[in-house]
Amino acid sequence: MWAELLPIGRRSAAGGYRRFAWTGADADCRAWFEQQARSRGLAHEVDRNGNQWAWLGDPAAGNAVVTGSHLDSVPDGGAFDGPLGVVSAFAALDELRHRGARFTRPVGIVNFGDEEGARFGLACVGSRLTAGQLTAEQAHRLTDGDGVTLPRAMAAAGYDPEAIGADPERLDRIGAFVELHVEQGRALDLTGDPVGIASAIWPHGRWRFDFRGEANHAGTTRLADRHDPMLPYAETVLAARREAERAGAVATFGKVAVEPNGVNAVPSLVRGWLDSRAVDQRRLDAVVTGVERAARARAEAHGVALDVARESFTPVVEFDHALRDELARILGKDRDTPLRVPVLGTGAGHDAGILSARVPTAMLFVRNPTGVSHSPAESATEDDCVAGVLALADVLEGLACT
Ligand code: GLV
Ligand code: MN
Ligand code: MN
Repeated sequence: MWAELLPIGRRSAAGGYRRFAWTGADADCRAWFEQQARSRGLAHEVDRNGNQWAWLGDPAAGNAVVTGSHLDSVPDGGAFDGPLGVVSAFAALDELRHRGARFTRPVGIVNFGDEEGARFGLACVGSRLTAGQLTAEQAHRLTDGDGVTLPRAMAAAGYDPEAIGADPERLDRIGAFVELHVEQGRALDLTGDPVGIASAIWPHGRWRFDFRGEANHAGTTRLADRHDPMLPYAETVLAARREAERAGAVATFGKVAVEPNGVNAVPSLVRGWLDSRAVDQRRLDAVVTGVERAARARAEAHGVALDVARESFTPVVEFDHALRDELARILGKDRDTPLRVPVLGTGAGHDAGILSARVPTAMLFVRNPTGVSHSPAESATEDDCVAGVLALADVLEGLACT
């Protein structure tokens, strides 16, 4: 499976992936998914929001066990964030068939669309739409950096943007969702365990800061006469670091757009995106309030206008305790050498976090030896990937088989 997936959307310069929603690379990933489903005799369907599903058994029977993840990526992302969960899902199903498992519940494998939000700015669009956390009207207003709207991009890829919206019947058929994901930190490396279980996802969000000043000549405009939005932006980046350190949280300005973006011109606009996350809401609020306060003060000092808009937000997610305990029980028992499975919180967002509001949901993490993620350097050893597949197979067997 990896051999076919790895070339898709890979940029040779950086070695990372650019698999953005509704692009050619996304279409190739979707074709790969469909082919994996069909080659295993699974029923393949695409839902109204463009999420792909592969079914063993009839989902209409209800109480289905679903696994899977996403295939899209951040700009120059790694190979594992998302795809490991989808590849492992198909591999776990192969393993169960090899074991001669007898299924008592329908089993589904899903590829959620646009998880990273790399193109339209909002993460987990496919699962948010399905869960009713994003309305069709809101989604229709999403626009990429080139001014292409989400409906236009969807239509260009051959999907019907008028069909998108909440899909409660589909979620009602799911009794449990288990997403396997590469770990995006070093907790498992530090405990020395190949596989972990998620406890919670930190509250997190994205805020857009627009600093509007006055374009002017870089050589002839006296410093005192400038309204340079780069200066309050730079001071805001530093403030974000300070506020995050003070609150014991994280804050990142990882994307910036400058207009007119000329070497010899004072910019007219600097637009920066703050991503901030914290273990609890109180700390997150403290960071965002503190950064915004600093940004306003610095903008005013430079005669620059500031607009701040929250582009996305996900409250804290506590995964279903009963399902989590069931996973721990299954992984601790059904083996010659029972797995020791640490339970970890994470600062990364996932479709599982969105679904958890509607469906009992759990996550398995596979060790990442460096912890690096959202980068071409993201990695997992083959042994650990196999351990993840076997753990997922055990879980599916425990939940969906006699
Ligand atoms: C998704 O991976 C996120 O946490 O931003
Ligand atoms: Mn990611
Ligand atoms: Mn992911």
